[in-house]
Amino acid sequence: MKIEVFFVKTIKYYKCITCLGILCQDLGSRSGMYLTKEEERILEGEMGEVQERMIRLLVRLGDIYGADRMIPVGSVQVAGVSYKSIGDPGLEFLEDIAEKGEKVKVLTYLNPAGMDLEDWKNLGFSEDFARNQLRIIDAFRKMGVVVTSTCTPYLAGNLPRFREHIAWSESSAVSFANSVIGARTNREGGPSALAAAICGKTPNYGLHLWNNRQPQIIVNVDADVNLNFLSDFGALGYFVGKQVRNKIPYFRGIKNADTDQLKALGAAMAASGAVALYHVEGLTPEADLVEKNGLETVEVTKKEIIDTYDRLSTGLEPDIVILGCPHASLREISMLADKLREKTLKKPVWICTSRMIKEAADRMGLVDVIEKAGGKVVADTCMVVSPIEDMGFKTTGVNSGKAANYLPGFCKQNVVFANIDRLIEVQTS
Ligand code: F3S
Repeated sequence: MKIEVFFVKTIKYYKCITCLGILCQDLGSRSGMYLTKEEERILEGEMGEVQERMIRLLVRLGDIYGADRMIPVGSVQVAGVSYKSIGDPGLEFLEDIAEKGEKVKVLTYLNPAGMDLEDWKNLGFSEDFARNQLRIIDAFRKMGVVVTSTCTPYLAGNLPRFREHIAWSESSAVSFANSVIGARTNREGGPSALAAAICGKTPNYGLHLWNNRQPQIIVNVDADVNLNFLSDFGALGYFVGKQVRNKIPYFRGIKNADTDQLKALGAAMAASGAVALYHVEGLTPEADLVEKNGLETVEVTKKEIIDTYDRLSTGLEPDIVILGCPHASLREISMLADKLREKTLKKPVWICTSRMIKEAADRMGLVDVIEKAGGKVVADTCMVVSPIEDMGFKTTGVNSGKAANYLPGFCKQNVVFANIDRLIEVQTS
């Protein structure tokens, strides 16, 4: 019963694209997929209730999408971690699994939680929220999940290899893994990722198959488009995501981009559209291998980028600036520290990242520089999955196309979408 409530609530929240509401149905007739003897025994309940429900979910998905069999996954990243997102039904479901002693079978990381798991009090999170959030984390810990809560697991110790099959949930992480690393994952819902972690497998369909990784539309980025700031890549991604929706784009005209810029591009496309894989000529690993003849083309000029900045900005003066969507790399934190050295911030600035990157930044003295200026390096959470609307903030400044897309709906925020130099106001101390 608890499992079903959780699935329904989580699916409603995430608009799960891999479930279609059939998780609570009885399996009834046998699956059309090939199942090993061991998989059949699990399905018949020989390994206990939790494993049975989890493999049932995976088999159902496989049947819907025409998978031929299950394939092993190298790692999992589970969404549905913030108490703000999953509430009491999710919390009870996770504690139920943990109490039954069920453990994950592969390296499994978590998406951001609803608060900084260590510094929550100083940042202003409520005791009630913190208590429930820590119970969620504890349940995952008991299941053997690495309780590193981040949407950039590839920067924090969960780095798949080229062509490795994985089962990740968070849309920007899925986009990065598929596009920049060349690993293979569908965009899992929270429940299907957890099922993959507990079974160590996923059905073989969608982006796990080479034929489904071919581009469907060419995006020509005009030579007059300047892509300097992360926000420029966010604006490009937001615009293209709106145009191509769930198609696989093939970019021409992006001359250079580092991994931070590519993660900003992919995150925005996954948010405004449902792009889980993109290729960039000369930059991403499968771009030379795919077939791109005869595809329709979208043109992007300076005008589309300027219009996107305008469209995403719904506010005038931010109460707070929050950077790090997706979670900031060490390079991004270092660049922020360089801007703030011996300065004082006029308004609060947070930069969100994983605990591991924060610890590295701390050792380098970067956290100290940012805090002396009045900023915060916030770990484990982000501006969208934390309850910032309950902390007195009404207008948030961001340099992320993805955050600008979600903040109005998820956190009731007005948004100022701009590059970092426009967002950060400092005075010399
Ligand atoms: Fe990550 Fe939160 Fe952005 S989960 S991609 S920082 S909305």
